[in-house]
Amino acid sequence: MSTQQQIVEKTRKYVIENYGRLPMAFARGAGAKIWDADGKEFIDFFAGFGGAGVAGHCHPAIVAALKHQAETLLCHGNLYMSGPQADLAEMITRHAFGGKVFYCHSGAEANEAALKLVRLAAGPGRYKIISFEKCFHGRTMGGLSLTPKDKQAGFEPMLPGNVMLPYNDLDAVANAIDAETAGIFVEPIQGEGGINMPSKAYMQGLRALCDKHKLLLVCDEVWTGPARTGRWFGYQYYDMAPDVMTVAKALGGGVPLAVCVAGPSCADVLTPGKHGCTMGGNPLCAAAGVATMKLIEDEDLVSRAAKKGADVMAAIRAANAPCVKSVRGAGFMIGIEIDKPAKEVFNACMAAGLLIGSAGASVLRLAPPLVIPDDLLAKGMDILIRALKQ
Ligand SMILES: Cc1ncc(COP(=O)(O)O)c(C=O)c1O
Repeated sequence: MSTQQQIVEKTRKYVIENYGRLPMAFARGAGAKIWDADGKEFIDFFAGFGGAGVAGHCHPAIVAALKHQAETLLCHGNLYMSGPQADLAEMITRHAFGGKVFYCHSGAEANEAALKLVRLAAGPGRYKIISFEKCFHGRTMGGLSLTPKDKQAGFEPMLPGNVMLPYNDLDAVANAIDAETAGIFVEPIQGEGGINMPSKAYMQGLRALCDKHKLLLVCDEVWTGPARTGRWFGYQYYDMAPDVMTVAKALGGGVPLAVCVAGPSCADVLTPGKHGCTMGGNPLCAAAGVATMKLIEDEDLVSRAAKKGADVMAAIRAANAPCVKSVRGAGFMIGIEIDKPAKEVFNACMAAGLLIGSAGASVLRLAPPLVIPDDLLAKGMDILIRALKQ
């Protein structure tokens, strides 16, 4: 078995350095714990950037579903159908707003599908897409075109027609819509932008503007779904529903799986030949998705995320660490804004055996797996609060 140092050296030599990775390599995970290649144990409050966000690492139910499917059928091509795809689509739409599902592998790909769907539904001449400051919709050229300019540098020209507006400002949206507008992309809670939650009136206002101008409203639920925020999907906080939503990250229980869900009004826009993905919804990943959704249902992880997330936020506020400016979020999607570099607290937590996330220079992010046991949650919180007070 390779040591951590050997893996780091080989990675630096052969893997493109597009992430600015830390010199750490992981070898094993179980639930909310993960071990590096030298055997050091960490409590994981960021769960693979959300990829293991529901079930944690190697959850027995996910592993069993993967094993069974791996021994049964791995791949069939999308000219044909299979049970796991059908089952997962039924489960997702039942917990959302009906409609139908397109399968792919990543949040960016799901947003590409949504972009194409929105343009096709809008018809010729309507191509403008509204998105919001501090948003993040992925690194493909389409998603990047909707994402703030600092991430676009060097890749211009972008897709024409992006209109970038302040988040949570309904007048700005009303004033920006014109005859060429096709749709709006919004995160129900901004993740990469620092855990920003808009008002209910704003989200309902977006819905009303889309109805009035016949635009499609797309909710990017790549971080917020499923169950993370204490609702099945983040839009459910606002008593409204989008026309389209994209979901990725935690949906696959740790394997790559993403969907673009189109509601009843636009579920049949993408007709044969208009879009595709060779391995999208392959039975292995779809079976993991079914197991993830079943875990949420069986263990009522929606309620657990809501309750435990509220407890965590209350505990951080009660700790009165002088550096904390605000604690915000919903469920297990939590942001802590501090008045010193986030990196300092991030590093202090890591040294003490806790992995957390950050957004920008001054916001820490917590997204523990929804199944994290109470004792590990408490242990991780002790480390975090000590680091905040340091
Ligand atoms: C809201 C949102 N949309 C899209 C993406 C892109 O997802 P992926 O990295 O799976 O392509 C991300 C990634 O963090 C995200 O946070």
